[in-house]
Amino acid sequence: MPAHFSQNALLLSLLLGVGQLQAAEPASPKAVATANGIPHPAVIAHRGASFDAPESTAAAYKLARDLGADYLELDLQRSKDGVLFALHDDNLQRTTDVASKFPERKNSPANEFTLAELKSLDAGSWFNTAYPDRARPAYAGLQILTLDEVIDIAQGNPRHKPGLYIETKEPKQFPGIERDLKDKLQDRGWLSPAGSKLAKSELAVGQGKGKVVLQTFEKSSLQKLQEEMPQVPKILLLWVAEGSIEPQSKVKFADSGDQDKATFYARQQPKDNAAFEQWVDFAKASGAIGTGPSATRSDLGDQSYSNLVQPWMNRYTHDLGMLVHVYTLDDDVDFKSVMDAGVDGIFTNRASELLSYYKRPATGTVAQLLELNGF
Ligand code: G3P
Ligand code: CA
Repeated sequence: MPAHFSQNALLLSLLLGVGQLQAAEPASPKAVATANGIPHPAVIAHRGASFDAPESTAAAYKLARDLGADYLELDLQRSKDGVLFALHDDNLQRTTDVASKFPERKNSPANEFTLAELKSLDAGSWFNTAYPDRARPAYAGLQILTLDEVIDIAQGNPRHKPGLYIETKEPKQFPGIERDLKDKLQDRGWLSPAGSKLAKSELAVGQGKGKVVLQTFEKSSLQKLQEEMPQVPKILLLWVAEGSIEPQSKVKFADSGDQDKATFYARQQPKDNAAFEQWVDFAKASGAIGTGPSATRSDLGDQSYSNLVQPWMNRYTHDLGMLVHVYTLDDDVDFKSVMDAGVDGIFTNRASELLSYYKRPATGTVAQLLELNGF
């Protein structure tokens, strides 16, 4: 064989070798989770154990912690006087008695209230009225919590230390909140590298490398979080709507003829595969380690949205070496369906049920743990 033939063959095999390396299988989702210090599959207690106790209050977060949830999830806002606190809604009407304490300001955004005003509200009684079968006298008078107080709760049980899964909620309302969050986490030691013996324990997600996960629906907030805290795992939340993943149909709920939003959302689909993939690609390019897609609940309840955890979607995300944490499911039938579709963790209002589904039973019942905490 002429010399140049064998040289060409060598070159070809080197090129093929490089090609094979480039086409190598992505790391398994479990390996990606482990590398980031995130349990797999992860139990993310959505606004705390918010099926059993008023969302985002001490009762809900202490219960989620003591049940053994991996993460306490919270929506971050900033008070008029600059204090970070946990609240999902834009205003205070649904989950507090703002209408009786501040009737003239009942529709105002929560961020137009000082911390003292927020603390004067009853954030528990609404739950007793809405869910009489789960009501408890001790829920009346529960307060809105600052981020500091949620951190105290996360650190408060020596036998189980959950991590924090923090969403910058409507971040355009809060310029600079990404920096404020970084400063607070730094002050509280939550950005320090893992090092303690406890950090190596499965019971101490909140002391390991994945002790904080940051999440947002806003692309610009993801970029700011990445600038501020490049070492902290991040998730881009996914949603089908104008301004988010482009929907197939432009028909609005009001014109859809649907009786309820869940039915409307269940029919929403990305315009095409590319519309979905663009968002996952953006997440990857911006430093996220995964996505947080919506799901359709079998009960089509309040938190049922479009199904963005179809197997091809999860495969696409996994092929980019990223994780899928789906929101928000509470029933075994839905846990099974999304696990079968390939997700890596679930936001749930019922941490007790999800832990039991994953065969990680808690040390006590919901009632026992609430009572131990004085509720
Ligand atoms: O953060 C994930 C999930 O909580 C997103 O939905 O509206 O409950 O914050 P939302
Ligand atoms: Ca949230």
